[in-house]
Amino acid sequence: MKKLLKPFNFSKMKTIRDFSAAMNEAGFPFPISEDTSVIAEPIHLDGKVIPNRLCIQPMEGFDGMPDGRPSDLIFRRYDRYARGGAGLIWYESITVSDDGRCNPLQMIIKESTIKDIKLLVEKSNRAAVEEFGRKPYNVLQLTHSGRRSVNANWESTPLAVVANPYIDHHNSIDGQSGKITFATDEKIEEIIENFIRSAVLAAEAEFDSVDVKVCHEYILRELLAAFNRPGKYGGSFENRSRALFDIIDGIRKRVGDGIDICVRLNAYDCIPYPHGWGMVKEEGVMKPDLSEPIELCKRLIKKGVKLINLSTMMPRYKPYGRGYLAEIEEGVDINPYEGFFSLLDATRQIKQAVPEGVFVSTGMTWTEHFGGNVAAGGIKEGWFDIAGFGRQCFAYPDFARDILEKGKMERSKCCITCDKCYDLIQKGHTMTGCVVRDQEVYLPLYRKFVQGK
Ligand SMILES: Cc1cc2nc3c(=O)[nH]c(=O)nc-3n(C[C@H](O)[C@H](O)[C@H](O)COP(=O)(O)O)c2cc1C
Repeated sequence: MKKLLKPFNFSKMKTIRDFSAAMNEAGFPFPISEDTSVIAEPIHLDGKVIPNRLCIQPMEGFDGMPDGRPSDLIFRRYDRYARGGAGLIWYESITVSDDGRCNPLQMIIKESTIKDIKLLVEKSNRAAVEEFGRKPYNVLQLTHSGRRSVNANWESTPLAVVANPYIDHHNSIDGQSGKITFATDEKIEEIIENFIRSAVLAAEAEFDSVDVKVCHEYILRELLAAFNRPGKYGGSFENRSRALFDIIDGIRKRVGDGIDICVRLNAYDCIPYPHGWGMVKEEGVMKPDLSEPIELCKRLIKKGVKLINLSTMMPRYKPYGRGYLAEIEEGVDINPYEGFFSLLDATRQIKQAVPEGVFVSTGMTWTEHFGGNVAAGGIKEGWFDIAGFGRQCFAYPDFARDILEKGKMERSKCCITCDKCYDLIQKGHTMTGCVVRDQEVYLPLYRKFVQGK
């Protein structure tokens, strides 16, 4: 099983010089700035505004209603985010069809749930207006879980697009494999139609944008890596990206300018070619090659995609060496800072190659209370335009307010990257949030479902 190293003692780091010295010595020269004022600069997107440079990354709580509507805990989460001040709220993944859930309580976007989803955005916007006199820019992440799909009993029901010897035996979050069904071209067309139909509903719910999710283990990301799939969705770059562009064109045709389109994209997979995307085209070599991802970003921007949020299979995996495989092998240590730095550096390279794009970074929680400084440094030095925080938002939903108003984050409110939020879902199969900083709700769940007490 995985062993995540904690190579740095953040409680001893008082100043940004302490942080930089430790990181530089370890070979991770993160961009950094004492002055965080750049974070307050808005971004204007054809009439819409992102009020500042901080993003709440999509973070599923595994806590919707069985029928796919948002629960009270989901309303609570987005109220906390809205009152916290981040200018960009990237709503967690929501599935475009009943068979595409990655857990039995994932939200589903459909006629019967859209009224409640609309209320979720309305309430969150109202909370932000109460606090700051403006609403955030809201993106809804649409997905089909593909090989990560499960049924109502948490049994794995993987739908893959091509065989993959690296991950076929490990499809769901807890390491189950399930019997894989391979999607026919007709099934892929059905999924494309479901994404388009869902974007129409998202426009009705008054989201600013949808995210056509092309990251992590999910189905559109897998299509980008379908080098070995025959037919119109596999092989060439055009074929592997066909579904993504058909969805974008379909949304434009059906909704016009009624909703923006964004993409959360894997900068590279941590699986070697010909089974991974964005990797050097030599069999078995675990090393990124960003030429196709850069080409894809250029084409996405030409199509009018507003934001590209760059991720990888999991930001903590080092793309060199064992990468993604480390998680599922015995006795392998993972230094998460190697993976996070590699991803941030890939983000820098892509931003430099596609300066016309607006890019969101991933993995900023690893920088703990220096998150605002790394965010400001990264924006000033042109690594990315907006800094994306994931687990930090479970722990410290008002981190943005502190950065904007005080110029820094409070150590005592920070995520300590203990991974207990991940354990709640992976080991506990239950709802998730911050066990350490939001104890009232999540500590009892951790005790019961993870520790069995
Ligand atoms: C509990 C949990 C739920 C997540 N849910 C999503 C999701 O719905 N969509 C998504 O794209 N990423 C999801 N992620 C990944 C995060 O958005 C983010 O990329 C990751 O946590 C790394 O960023 P961080 O270091 O700032 O936390 C999830 C991660 C965790 C731990």
